[in-house]
Amino acid sequence: MSQVLIAPSILSADFASLGQQVREAEVAGADWIHVDVMDGHFVPQISFGEPIVRALRPVTTLPLDVHLMIEPVDPHLEAFAAAGADSITVHVEATPNPDQTLRTIRDLGVRPGLTLRPRTPAWALWPYLDLADIVLVMTVEPGRGGQSFMPEMLPRIEQVAHRMDECDRDRWLQVDGGLNASTTGSAVRAGAQVIVAGSAIFGDSRGVAAAISGLRGDVGG
Ligand code: DX5
Ligand code: ZN
Repeated sequence: MSQVLIAPSILSADFASLGQQVREAEVAGADWIHVDVMDGHFVPQISFGEPIVRALRPVTTLPLDVHLMIEPVDPHLEAFAAAGADSITVHVEATPNPDQTLRTIRDLGVRPGLTLRPRTPAWALWPYLDLADIVLVMTVEPGRGGQSFMPEMLPRIEQVAHRMDECDRDRWLQVDGGLNASTTGSAVRAGAQVIVAGSAIFGDSRGVAAAISGLRGDVGG
């Protein structure tokens, strides 16, 4: 896989015109739509739930990439799958049995993803890597958009990239948090294949299309 994928996070979109913003991102060449679900418990903030996935499903043909920052996570997987999620990424900290959770997601016909907080050691992922189609390295503390990229996560991206290379299946190393024109290049050089960006895309005063092509320019895609 050579081309880097761009996944705009709707967390920073204008919720009053969400459908339009997602269409704009699709026309501008976005690859996935990243949907951040927060419960006010696993992270302090509450964003939205599965009705937003259901509402967006007919709006776009792009994969809906759902990032669940919720605990417990298992009771909600079926609802997000039924709503139209194409991938569901869970936090290793949010489930007592990550292997079971990832298998359940796959059994629901959805691509399973696994992620971790920056302060959780990377080795927490290793036993489950083969069960995940997406491995997400968080480059900010989950919970809010608009935070600064943590450069100390670059070695972690390299480490995960190295481990994922050992497997020949189609999988993606995704990064999320603080990705913008100045930070995307280093994340990609470290091995990132999917760039999640919220404020850098929906908060760009030049508009969504210019922001996405700006990021593409940065990643040479
Ligand atoms: C943070 C979310 C991110 C967030 C990224 O908890 O997982 O997806 O929307 O926002 P930016 O790109 O603004 O850092
Ligand atoms: Zn996210």
